[in-house]
Amino acid sequence: MAEMIRTATPADAEAIAALNRAAFGGEEEVGIVERLRGDGLVAVELVAEQGGAIIGHILLSWLPTVIDGRSVKALALAPMAVRPGLQKQGIGGRLIAAALDQARAAGAQAVIVLGHPGYYPRFGFSAALAQNLASPFSGDAFMALELVPGALAGQRGSVSYPSAFGL
Ligand SMILES: CC(C)(COP(=O)(O)OP(=O)(O)OC[C@H]1O[C@@H](n2cnc3c(N)ncnc32)[C@H](O)[C@@H]1OP(=O)(O)O)[C@@H](O)C(=O)NCCC(=O)NCCS
Repeated sequence: MAEMIRTATPADAEAIAALNRAAFGGEEEVGIVERLRGDGLVAVELVAEQGGAIIGHILLSWLPTVIDGRSVKALALAPMAVRPGLQKQGIGGRLIAAALDQARAAGAQAVIVLGHPGYYPRFGFSAALAQNLASPFSGDAFMALELVPGALAGQRGSVSYPSAFGL
């Protein structure tokens, strides 16, 4: 049965928390999602639903980003999860594609992720593109994607993760 991807609603909150608990094996991501919502930073939040159950979730939030003194409308992709047992069937990929479409529609210029270096590049994320962005992260797992070509061009940039991430 194919899943349906739709915008998350407040009624989904408990199912989303249960999914994140199952996929990540802890409370950290559950807390991040709740704080991002509470702080009004959510730009895109989608769920994948199958037979009335929430089996996937992705959240994109506004991430203050400045490059060479100019402000860039960037989003952080975090967290995302697919129910264990249903992973590696393409659901995560379809969630990302749908979320990037909505991010574009919301006027975002770039998306930043800290994630599996073997996974996100297939959607266009690149560690090289994130290299000039000062952040608590660096290396292969810190990746960026431009929704608007050239949005991340420049000499020196920085991203400021909101306190919701608890860094
Ligand atoms: C990451 C996740 C959301 C992907 O969802 P999915 O529906 O399995 O993704 P898809 O079916 O579109 O793609 C499968 C790919 O995910 C990648 N992947 C999944 N888990 C991975 C992991 N722990 N490390 C590296 N790659 C991983 C695999 O490379 C796989 O690629 P393959 O097709 O070459 O085997 C899902 O595996 C998940 O919920 N994992 C646990 C929570 C998590 O780690 N979230 C991401 C934080 S960055």
